[in-house]
Amino acid sequence: MSAQASSSRRAVEEDDIQGLLRFGYRKLTQASFLLMRVRNAASARAWLATCPVGSARELSPPPRTVLQVAISCPGLRALGMREDAVQGFSREFIAGMSSDDSRSRRLGDLGANAPRHWQWGGRPDAVPHVLLMLYAVPGELDALQRQVLDQCAPGFTLAACLDTSDMDGVEPFGFVDGISQPGLDWQRQRPARDRQVLDYSNLSCLGEFLLGYPNEYGEYTDRPLLQHERDPAGILPRAEESPQLADLGRNGSYLVLRQLRQDVGGFWRFVDAAAGGDPARREQLASAMVGRGRDGLPLVDDAGASIEGERDPINSFTFDEDPRGERCPIGAHIRRSNPRNADLPAGGRGPVSKLIRTLGFDAQALALDRVSSTRFHRLLRRGREYGDGLTMEQALAGETGGDHGTGLHFICLGASIARQFEFVQGAWIAGTHFGGLHDESDPLLGTRLPGPDGVRTDGFSIPSEGGCDVRLSGLPQFVQVMGGAYFFLPGIRALRFIAKEQ
Ligand code: HEM
Repeated sequence: MSAQASSSRRAVEEDDIQGLLRFGYRKLTQASFLLMRVRNAASARAWLATCPVGSARELSPPPRTVLQVAISCPGLRALGMREDAVQGFSREFIAGMSSDDSRSRRLGDLGANAPRHWQWGGRPDAVPHVLLMLYAVPGELDALQRQVLDQCAPGFTLAACLDTSDMDGVEPFGFVDGISQPGLDWQRQRPARDRQVLDYSNLSCLGEFLLGYPNEYGEYTDRPLLQHERDPAGILPRAEESPQLADLGRNGSYLVLRQLRQDVGGFWRFVDAAAGGDPARREQLASAMVGRGRDGLPLVDDAGASIEGERDPINSFTFDEDPRGERCPIGAHIRRSNPRNADLPAGGRGPVSKLIRTLGFDAQALALDRVSSTRFHRLLRRGREYGDGLTMEQALAGETGGDHGTGLHFICLGASIARQFEFVQGAWIAGTHFGGLHDESDPLLGTRLPGPDGVRTDGFSIPSEGGCDVRLSGLPQFVQVMGGAYFFLPGIRALRFIAKEQ
């Protein structure tokens, strides 16, 4: 059930939102993610009823340690949530990441990525129930982790502990990460109604990331709404568009966690061979695959252009002036994961141009209009690196790093797993038809397995201005999925409600 955005907008309840959504806690450089299973529901609920969860309210001084809590669908059931409330969550959350072959195929979880090979989360009966995310300043994580594990021991068993490493903002292949993030409209200034947007904007309606607020369609994303008798103590906020209903979703978000192991040696050896051992060419090819240099600078040259909601000059650009991908290949990782387009293909500002583009009479513009409008598919990324870092030089010298591998505990937040994570991962990253390309997938993340029609997917096209286009082939798989699950990051009042409900 979706309702048109109500005109009675309330102020944002910062105290009720888990802080990860707003802050990302980048300054708390130490983190660990604990995957828990409920062993005693009453004790688990008792701990969740009072555990100290950090909120989105700004504190001065900022906290030195923070706990965040997310719950999977099997977790809600294990905690005793009634089935009618569970059924209010989205279908993909209820089903889970590893639930069926069709979902695995769409997400590219095939071959070495298949759930049966995962270290955790691969079997529906072994999905973690609760994800505890611990953040701390250097030196304080161990004590926090011991304390949390002690306190929740009566209710939970620890299924796995995902350690993270502080790589100083650089992901294991060696590229600066975490640069581009959507800006959230905390002031609620964006009009809450569907309207055509002609310019790429970095500002997103709150409802794209927080349940209970209008999204970019001007609608409230479906979420569990309960009759108020179910919440006699008034723990839950009331639904903005239907104040007679208790809103179990409001101020919550869905959280996707995927453990992605990176083959740093394989990546740099492949790029080096393709560059014929030429260091400058090697750098160029690797940057083309990502869409940014290792220092984070974008490859298109309109960086610094004015983009609504974006203040960082190295993230203020679109691909409008690079339609063939001669600066930044169309298949580059950042161009696939955020094509930075608006609802209509780019063009002049006047009403005539708009009409021509709306009616599809501008053949050139139409040719560019090959991917869906970006604003419905943004992700708020909150992942952390893990393992021992390996520099490009070490990787090329044949060093392998630690035994447990290195990679990304990829985390993203959004109000719709299907429209945000699953769409970006499935259609744009794993998909072999993207923006006019038809036999390649994401150069970092692709599985390289042949498509259903046997077509190869291990290429990467680099169009060239004036010269010959370059086509790399035989890309190996550089990233392997090691585990994953879908969670709900509840509002803090919703967490307390879940802890009470029987
Ligand atoms: C090990 C796996 C991955 C690596 C090494 C990686 C690396 C990077 C790098 C270096 C950037 C550019 C820096 C930045 O803008 O923050 C980036 C951006 C991005 N990545 Fe990934 N990424 C990985 C997995 C994923 C996955 C699984 C998704 C989504 C399903 C994803 C979505 C994005 C998005 C949305 C951006 C921002 C694009 C933009 O707005 O310009 N990445 N990634």
